[in-house]
Amino acid sequence: MPVTRIVIVGATVALALSLPFYGKTWNLLMHHVGAVVFMGNLIVSAAWMSLARRSRSVETLRLGARGVVLTDAIFTSPGALLLLLNGGILGTPFFQSGARWLFLSIALFLVSGILWLAVLVPVQKRLALLLERVPVGGAVPAECDALLKRWFRVGGIAALLPLATLVLMVVKPNF
Ligand code: HEM
Repeated sequence: MPVTRIVIVGATVALALSLPFYGKTWNLLMHHVGAVVFMGNLIVSAAWMSLARRSRSVETLRLGARGVVLTDAIFTSPGALLLLLNGGILGTPFFQSGARWLFLSIALFLVSGILWLAVLVPVQKRLALLLERVPVGGAVPAECDALLKRWFRVGGIAALLPLATLVLMVVKPNF
C-alpha cells in the first residue's frame, strides 16, 4: 500500500477513535495509546537506524530508510494525532484554569512536530531516494553520511521535546 494511503487510513482511524462520545476514560486510554505508539516508534527507529548506519551496508541502510518512512506513516502520524486530539479533549478543564504547564507541553510538542515535518521528513525521503539509486554491493554515498548525521542530530532534539512533554504530563507542575 502506498505511504500516502497508509497515512490517510491511519488518520481516519485515529480520528474515529477520538470522537468525543466515549467518555473521559476512553480519551485518556487513547492518549496513552498515542504516547506509547508515538514515543515507541521514535526510539525504536533511532535504534534500528543506528545499527544500520554502523553496518556500512547499502542494503541494510536501504531497508532502514524504507522502514523509517513506512513506520512513520503506520505509527508516528496516527500516534501524534491520538495525542493531539485526545489531549485536546482532556485539556478542556486545564485550559479553563489557565494551566501554563499544559501550554508549555503543547508548545514543546508542536516544535517537535515542526522539526519532524520541516527537517526529518525531507531528510528521510532524500536518504531513501539516494540509497535506491545505489547498485547492489555499491558503497554508501558521502551525502548519505551527511544526511544521517543531520537525521540523528535533529531527530534527537525532536525526540527529547515530547519526552519533556511526557514528564510535564505526569508531574502536572503547579504553574
Ligand atoms: C497536544 C499535546 C498534548 C495535550 C494537549 C495533552 C493533554 C493532556 C492532559 C490534559 C492530560 C491530563 C489528563 C487528566 O489527568 O485528566 C494528559 C495526560 C497525559 N499525557 Fe498528554 N497531552 C499532550 C501530549 C502528550 C505527549 C506528547 C505525551 C507523551 C509522549 C503525553 C503523555 C501523557 C500521559 C502519559 C498522561 C497521563 C499522565 C497521568 O495521568 O499521570 N501527552 N495529557
